[in-house]
Amino acid sequence: MTRVLSCIQPTGGVHLGNYLGALRNWVIGQHECDAFHGIVDLHALTVTDRPGLVGPSTLELAATLFAGGLDPEVATVFVQSHVPEHSQLSWITECTVSYGELSRMTQFKDKAAKREADFVSAGLFTYPALQAADILLYDADEVPVGEDQRQHVEITRDIAMRFNSRFGETFVVPKVVTPKAGAKVTDLQEPTAKMSKSSNSDAGIVYLLDEPAAIMKKFKRAVTDSDGEVRFDRATKPGVSNLLEILAACTGRSPAEVAGSYSQYGPLKNDAGQAVVELLTPIQHRYRELMGDRAELSRLLRRGADKAREVASRTLQRTYDNIGLLPPN
Ligand code: AMP
Ligand code: TRP
Repeated sequence: MTRVLSCIQPTGGVHLGNYLGALRNWVIGQHECDAFHGIVDLHALTVTDRPGLVGPSTLELAATLFAGGLDPEVATVFVQSHVPEHSQLSWITECTVSYGELSRMTQFKDKAAKREADFVSAGLFTYPALQAADILLYDADEVPVGEDQRQHVEITRDIAMRFNSRFGETFVVPKVVTPKAGAKVTDLQEPTAKMSKSSNSDAGIVYLLDEPAAIMKKFKRAVTDSDGEVRFDRATKPGVSNLLEILAACTGRSPAEVAGSYSQYGPLKNDAGQAVVELLTPIQHRYRELMGDRAELSRLLRRGADKAREVASRTLQRTYDNIGLLPPN
């Protein structure tokens, strides 16, 4: 069976881009493949330096993933720091990637530039090596992610192939898979930028836990354009195309097909908002139930970590063996 792995960071609330670009596909995929999903709390340390923030966000994200439909009986859902092999393998992957390759990562360049005078950690730079460890530990065949993560999966492939040629067959070389509809959700206020937690204002971001009235308001105020024509064209009509893409992803149609049903922006905004509210209401309900039972949440995560470690520890041992590190006894 195809082994699939993807992860998400516990930084800020989960938004519609994460849901349509990632989580929803994980939920569908868990029944078709052997699915592993990590909440990558150590990745969040690249941009977090205040105490006490990452733990609660990790728990909330776990509840969100289960509420969104990941079934702990079917998929393996774990917290990265509960599986120490991630940190251990990441040193090996760091030693298998070059400074030049890491320097070309667009996410690093963007994030480092945004932080300007702020502290830019070495971890922000070596982050793709940790991500490669996340993937390679599980012998993942496929990594479903949004378009923005393609480069990180490609560097993982390069790392795997380089390691295999240096030390012999060790890692499965993973493929990136990007979903068809909803692969890229952009900011409702700034439709040329991807919907992202790091955006300046919340007005363009729809959070999974937003109240229905707040969601409708954000859609009603979505930035469009002034030519008044409903047409799917990302380049010249980014705002309208984003609304079409969201509505299409919620209703299982193609954006072009959806465009044919509208001649005005008002009804399109309203229907896109309604479709999102309908999609999110049951998820919000399950989230509140789960957050009311912390003991159960911890139990589910412990179980996920045990299942993850079973696979990860074998891969790490194989890696050490193939390098020829001296065994402790
Ligand atoms: P992040 O929020 O950056 O930790 O991303 C978690 C997952 O959501 C990754 O697979 C991303 O590719 C995906 N993702 C994040 N933002 C978007 C977006 N605006 N549209 C589509 N997918 C996204
Ligand atoms: N870097 C990814 C993001 O920001 C999160 C991530 C970490 C990830 N490790 C991963 C995604 C492994 C897929 C596979 O979205």
